[in-house]
Amino acid sequence: MKKPTWCYKKPIIDNLEEIQQELNLELLKYNRGVYNFSRIKSEEVKEQLPLASTLLQDMGLYDRWSHVILVKVENEQWNPHIDCFDWKVNSYSFNIPLKNCENSYTVFYEGNIINEKPQKNKYMRGTDESHRTVDPESLVEICRVDANQPLWINTTIPHTPIVYHKKPRLNACFRFIPEIHDYFDND
Ligand SMILES: [Fe+2]
Repeated sequence: MKKPTWCYKKPIIDNLEEIQQELNLELLKYNRGVYNFSRIKSEEVKEQLPLASTLLQDMGLYDRWSHVILVKVENEQWNPHIDCFDWKVNSYSFNIPLKNCENSYTVFYEGNIINEKPQKNKYMRGTDESHRTVDPESLVEICRVDANQPLWINTTIPHTPIVYHKKPRLNACFRFIPEIHDYFDND
């Protein structure tokens, strides 16, 4: 197993609009408003999401779909970070844009990971994603991708959302346990 070096991939989803409608209808119920991250276990929502479930089944990932994180970015700057100190864990995010994702990007960087215990994130409900931030002095942007489309994000590379408007941006971020390194050809 090799650490992935690509920043993002663009999955093709034939029925994207229907899936977005379904996710908007069901997942927004879990938007707690004050939180930037609402973590929802797959068992809680599987049955309400037949289209998304079928998509994951077709991709061969349904059995390892563990949770979906409703991520809200609202007129704020987030520190570039990796999602987990151990690159083998929490390495990929399957993102589907839900609301106000136009004119926004996922930006990737090179930089020195700050090797200290992660601070407890008050916005993270019921989970410690063990993320690490990057020394701001060392940051160099390496690429960015329009976030208004479905994306696979390599969360082992420092990244952050950048939004050029003031509306709350919402994304559904599907995560997998055990991690799905075998799904990608990282060699
Ligand atoms: Fe992240």
